[in-house]
Amino acid sequence: MLFISLLLILVLSFCFVGIFLGAPYMPTLNKQVEIALELAELKKGDTLLELGCGDGRVLIAAAKKDIKAIGYEINPFLVLICYLRTIKYRQLVQIKWGNYWDKSWPAADIVFVFLISRYMEKLDKRLNNYPYKPIKLISFAFKIKGKRITKSKNGLFLYIYK
Ligand SMILES: C[S@@+](CC[C@H](N)C(=O)[O-])C[C@H]1O[C@@H](n2cnc3c(N)ncnc32)[C@H](O)[C@@H]1O
Repeated sequence: MLFISLLLILVLSFCFVGIFLGAPYMPTLNKQVEIALELAELKKGDTLLELGCGDGRVLIAAAKKDIKAIGYEINPFLVLICYLRTIKYRQLVQIKWGNYWDKSWPAADIVFVFLISRYMEKLDKRLNNYPYKPIKLISFAFKIKGKRITKSKNGLFLYIYK
């Protein structure tokens, strides 16, 4: 019974939640993560916000460059993995468990996302009303319809909200 319950929670966390609330889990390749940070031209002391931080690889790459990183993640299994992987960077990395659409997003210099196309418009509206502008958005794989791309490389798109 316990095994079936755990299995059910696992399936719900990885499939249902991701598909209906943002994007299912699929990690960005490490090479793309490096390109994302290059595109963003972040400086030491900047803050990166990641919506759906998965296993924490983007947060770790940012912390290695002395960038503060805050990640939201809804899947409790990934929150645990992410928490354990980022222990070494606790001074710089914060992980928040929950649905990022329901949270008020903290002040940050950049937001990194790997969503699915149907959530890009919602994200755009939210960033247009973001109180701590300017903020850069790096989106992996998906574009925002009708918004000018400032830079792009290898499937990563940089947008600026002023
Ligand atoms: C495509 S994966 C990307 C993971 C990570 N950003 C990366 O690039 O490696 C999307 C992640 O967002 C999480 N997610 C989806 N919808 C969410 C929501 N509404 N709130 C918080 N996390 C969410 C999923 O659980 C998944 O880990």
